[in-house]
Amino acid sequence: MNVPRTDFQRLHLCPSKNARIRVIQVRDKEFEVYISDEQIQSAILEVSARLNADYTDKNPLFICVLNGAFMFFSDLLKHFNGNCEVGFIKATSYEGMQSTGEVQFQESGILAMEGRDVIVVEDIVDTGKTLHKLYAYLSKYTPKSVRVCTLLFKKEAYKESLPIDYVCFETENKFLLGYGLDYDGLGRNLSEVYILKD
Ligand code: IMP
Ligand code: MG
Repeated sequence: MNVPRTDFQRLHLCPSKNARIRVIQVRDKEFEVYISDEQIQSAILEVSARLNADYTDKNPLFICVLNGAFMFFSDLLKHFNGNCEVGFIKATSYEGMQSTGEVQFQESGILAMEGRDVIVVEDIVDTGKTLHKLYAYLSKYTPKSVRVCTLLFKKEAYKESLPIDYVCFETENKFLLGYGLDYDGLGRNLSEVYILKD
C-alpha cells in the first residue's frame, strides 16, 4: 500500500504526539525528554551501518532481550541489509527503580545458536550484571561469536569487563524511561528517552 507522503508528514507534526511533550509524570515521578526521536533514529542509522559492514554476509542471529529492547530491536533490524534470523529471550532483573540482583532468563522458542554469529540487542546496559549472566547462559549453546548492541550504556555504573561492541548513546547514571524502558511497567511506548527529573 502506498502511503501518500503528505499524510506521513502530517502524522509526524501532530501536536498530540509524544515528541511534543517535554515533561511527563509516570506514577509518582516526573521525567523530562533526554534523547529525542530524531536523535535515536540517527544513532540507529550509524550503528546499523557498522552492523552491515560487519555482518551482512554472515546470516547472524539477532537476539532481542525482552521486554526493554523490543522497540530498539525493531527499528534497528529494519536497516540490516543481509540475511538474518531473530530470537527473543526474556530477562527479569528490575523492580521499580532497583535491580533485584537476581536475573532470570526465559527463551521464546528454540534459539539455534550453535556455530552462529550472535548479536545480543539490549535496551540499556547499567551494571552489566544481566549481560554478564546472559553471556554465560548463551555460551552453553556454543555460538561462533557473541557481540552486544545496546541503545543506552550507563558507562559509570558498568561493573563488568565484557566489551560493549555497539553503543548508540553513553548516558548519565540516572534512571531513564521510554523507547522500551519502563518505570514499574509503564512508559515503554514513549518514542523518546526520558530522564528522571531532579
Ligand atoms: P543491569 O543488569 O544492571 O545492566 O541492568 C540491565 C537491565 O535493567 C536493563 O536491561 C533494563 O531492563 C533495566 N534497567 C537498567 N537501568 C534502567 C533504567 O535507567 N531505566 C529502566 N530500566 C533500566
Ligand atoms: Mg533490558
